[in-house]
Amino acid sequence: MAGTVVVGTQWGDEGKGKVVDVLAPRAAMVVRYQGGNNAGHTLVVAGHKTVLHLVPSGILHPGTLCVVGNGVVLDPVVILREFDALAAAGRHLTPEDLVISSRAQVILPWHRELDRLREQARGGDAIGTTGKGIGPCYEDKAARRGIRVGDLVDPERFRARVSALLPEKNRMITEWFGGEPLTLDRVVSELAPLAERLRPHVRDTVALLHQAVRGGQELLFEGAQGTFLDIDHGTYPFVTSSNTVAGAACAGSGVGPSVLTHVVGIAKAYTTRVGWGPFPTECEDAVGDHLRSVGQEYGSTTGRPRRCGWFDAALLRTSVMLNGLTHIALTKLDVLSGLPTVRICVGYRGHVGLPDDLGVAEPLYEDMPGWVEDLTGCRSFDELPATCQAYVKRLEQLVGVEAGLISVGPGRAQTIVRDPLFLG
Ligand code: GDP
Ligand code: IMO
Ligand code: MG
Repeated sequence: MAGTVVVGTQWGDEGKGKVVDVLAPRAAMVVRYQGGNNAGHTLVVAGHKTVLHLVPSGILHPGTLCVVGNGVVLDPVVILREFDALAAAGRHLTPEDLVISSRAQVILPWHRELDRLREQARGGDAIGTTGKGIGPCYEDKAARRGIRVGDLVDPERFRARVSALLPEKNRMITEWFGGEPLTLDRVVSELAPLAERLRPHVRDTVALLHQAVRGGQELLFEGAQGTFLDIDHGTYPFVTSSNTVAGAACAGSGVGPSVLTHVVGIAKAYTTRVGWGPFPTECEDAVGDHLRSVGQEYGSTTGRPRRCGWFDAALLRTSVMLNGLTHIALTKLDVLSGLPTVRICVGYRGHVGLPDDLGVAEPLYEDMPGWVEDLTGCRSFDELPATCQAYVKRLEQLVGVEAGLISVGPGRAQTIVRDPLFLG
């Protein structure tokens, strides 16, 4: 039995969706275990692009069960919009394709509203959230007053729960932030038809996962966001509201750590970040422009331009430790083609590891010659230009884990496989 976790090693958008899609054929189930529709995971199969926010990235493989685990915060509006988009593309989802934990927390209209109002009130100190209500929903979960999917699909219980919560939420929205109040009828009437559609998919997903474990089936756990957006280990307070490190796969799905056998870290061959917070290797110059335009670095969820910069090996070494990475998948190597020099941050002045405060840290760089060749057609390591091979080898040496998969384009097939794990 094997359990493989896929996590982002940087600040998100590393290409987790693509790699999960590549790995999915070997798994009986693909499980999301934290985050919500702040995630945007992109799959490109036969030239067709699919962007997923809540539906796990195994969905394009019929026969793989997609599971939305208990650790996820679920916006019913968004997941059903995804169902509709997939149906329009010919993939009609049944409960045999996708199940949702009755224990997942529900994102409600006041969460979206409070996310927006709080960010507005922070002014110059804004976090730059995705505005999807993620933080306020996890707040309610921790405060033990959240509404779970099991409550949503029980009409009487749902109405009673909303009715009990709404006065406090409205007081906050109107008196504290000067926003517009929500009405019980509006909230209930908006969500009731959505709950009806979701009900057939709602399960005790823990029981399903354990059945698979007992049957010796392979499970794939799909992380969202990235290691340095983790609420404990990231660049707090510029983080998301969940644990994004690999360990969260257990609590967020209900399997014990002994189920996990492989931990795959997805690392972009450079670095990006959306939203605010420290980013020492950021390039606000022609290099940043190159990475943004060639790499099409615009948010899959919000469309915001992503901040771009050099690969940070010190960051990656920390990610290896925090997640216990056994494998690395290096993505978007093709985007570096055409840069005369490629830089790597090898560490920080005056620090052995990663400095506690990245906001004032001074990166130390190593420069290597770049390459001009288009990599998108390469399918083996040997086909990569010599300078590009040298760059990858240097990254591996600095990080201490081999790149078992190298991605050279968004397409499923634009992949160089070097480790049997990635054979799918
Ligand atoms: P995720 O959130 O980690 O799943 O990543 P996103 O989907 O938000 O962002 C990654 C973007 O890069 C998507 O548009 C992918 O289609 C694209 N992508 C993934 N791998 C590669 C690659 O190797 N090369 C290029 N050029 N694009 C890639
Ligand atoms: P995927 O799974 C990149 C960032 C937001 C913001 C911070 C907090 O596609 O890699 P939130 O809405 O979570 O409260 O915002 O986290 N963020 C992401 N950045 N990729 C993501 O997901 C992200 N999810 C959240 O931009 O800085
Ligand atoms: Mg993304």
